[in-house]
Amino acid sequence: MRHATTNRRLTRRLALLLPLLATICAATESVPLASGMVVSDHWLASEAGRDVLAAGGNAVDAAIATGLALAVTHPSAGNIGGGGFMIIRFPNGTATAIDFRETAPMAAHADMWLDDDGEYWRQVHHYSHKAVGVPGTVAGFDKAHQLYGVAQWPTLLAPAIDLAEEGFSLSERLANSLAGFVGRFPHYPATVAQFSRDGLPLAMGDTLRQPDLGGSLRRIQAGRRDGFYRGPTALLLVAEMTRGGGLLQMVDLERYEARERTPIRGSYHGYEIIGMPPPSSGGVAVVTMLNILAGYDLAAMGHNTPGYIHHLAEAMRRAFRDRARWLADTDVVDVPLHMLTSQEHAAHLRQDLDSRSASVSAPGDLTLPYESPETTHYSVVDSDGMAVAVTYTLEAAYGSGIVVPGAGFLLNNQMGDFNAVRGHTDEFGLIGTEPNLARPSQRMLSSMSPTILAKDGHLVAVTGSPGGRTIINTVLQVLLNLIDFDMGIEAAVAAARVHHQWLPDRLRLEAERFDSGTVAALQDMGHMVQAAGRQGLAHSIGIDPDTGARVGAADPRNADAGARGD
Ligand code: GLY
Repeated sequence: MRHATTNRRLTRRLALLLPLLATICAATESVPLASGMVVSDHWLASEAGRDVLAAGGNAVDAAIATGLALAVTHPSAGNIGGGGFMIIRFPNGTATAIDFRETAPMAAHADMWLDDDGEYWRQVHHYSHKAVGVPGTVAGFDKAHQLYGVAQWPTLLAPAIDLAEEGFSLSERLANSLAGFVGRFPHYPATVAQFSRDGLPLAMGDTLRQPDLGGSLRRIQAGRRDGFYRGPTALLLVAEMTRGGGLLQMVDLERYEARERTPIRGSYHGYEIIGMPPPSSGGVAVVTMLNILAGYDLAAMGHNTPGYIHHLAEAMRRAFRDRARWLADTDVVDVPLHMLTSQEHAAHLRQDLDSRSASVSAPGDLTLPYESPETTHYSVVDSDGMAVAVTYTLEAAYGSGIVVPGAGFLLNNQMGDFNAVRGHTDEFGLIGTEPNLARPSQRMLSSMSPTILAKDGHLVAVTGSPGGRTIINTVLQVLLNLIDFDMGIEAAVAAARVHHQWLPDRLRLEAERFDSGTVAALQDMGHMVQAAGRQGLAHSIGIDPDTGARVGAADPRNADAGARGD
């Protein structure tokens, strides 16, 4: 591990000296067959994972170290106060999934977002102490390591502790993001203290040190999950909940369990898709869409032509209708997973798909709750070919905005992913369907879709993205770019993306990436076309089919991101 520590010191020194290095280095990197690769939203976190690989750790170890480092260097989504999902594919082709999604506290109930007059209270649902779900990340990393890691647990915490305590240099992007964030939460003194200089914004090139976060990470280093869910960290968290009127209590922390689950499997043109099962909707929706699209010759239509985009939009519309109708935490609610991912169901969904004109989304009593675009995804492959895809989140950017005083980490606002008001659905996006209502210990529905692609027993790619519900469609398009259009991973990740989510009935195209002729043709087919901002950050790894080289593709939509091979 000495090699890794030296690397880390050198990196940190460079980071303090050269804030622009991130911009220069964010790109694609390729390493040969017997090497490993990490691609994440912050190059320092990728280097933390890369160093673990170099010291003999496997892909699970590297994923844990990367995730912990992101909790320091990418505070808007990297976390120990949130939750997420990990897909692992082993070199022998078997796969598993670790679910560390947050749960509702025991005191939660479906009507908890109503005020005394029975009116929906959006602020409480999305931005309050009651919006905080029981964090899952530390339990998830602990479980993944207990089951599949090989490195010593303390070594996985070391890079994150260094980054928190000694600090790192802020990029322009992060400095601007923090300034905007702190300005929104002047009422949380611990938040202001951690992410500003006495209330004044930090600037590009300033060093961000987070000593309280370092202390929490040290307690996790010493006590594994008990260093978070019991003892001083848990007491600080519960004290903040009590102070702010949250529901989360010590019993919720003690009872929290990450779960190992069976991944969703699909097949498309001879490729195998390995995706996340509920409480994510991602794996099911991606497989449903691929099953629908298998009935058409997409390659013949041409990439991002109006006809191609139309068929994607119609598949998306149908899969998102299923999502709203059926999907929720399968520990609590019966979900017909087999039916939803079957070829028969896809054939049924194709029946009313007109290849020349858009369908109309009919809300009925179903629509979709707001979901934040903030989250982060990273991909890891080790020298043996073990692959790990992790997507995790605080829900909104910086979650609830609440830093736990004395513990230095941000709390999620994931309770906002539960449906708002039982039985009440309206055109503004409130949903009242039963499956995804808040219940004690239930996991809220997610769109996060860490995904692994294989063919003939060989690993092909590792992918995923942030972006709320757009995650599902970003992953779909990366897969189609690889499979139908034979793109390399760099082009597959960089290509322009589209999004349709059934309701609102709009087709969103990444702005300035589609010509006016394409827009006009889609409008002629009946689509309500809307220009959208950047869609997703699909930090991915592709395996060169001829050489086995691992090609890390950091999504060019973020200059701080980095691909690092060992
Ligand atoms: N909160 C975003 C998601 O879980 O999909």
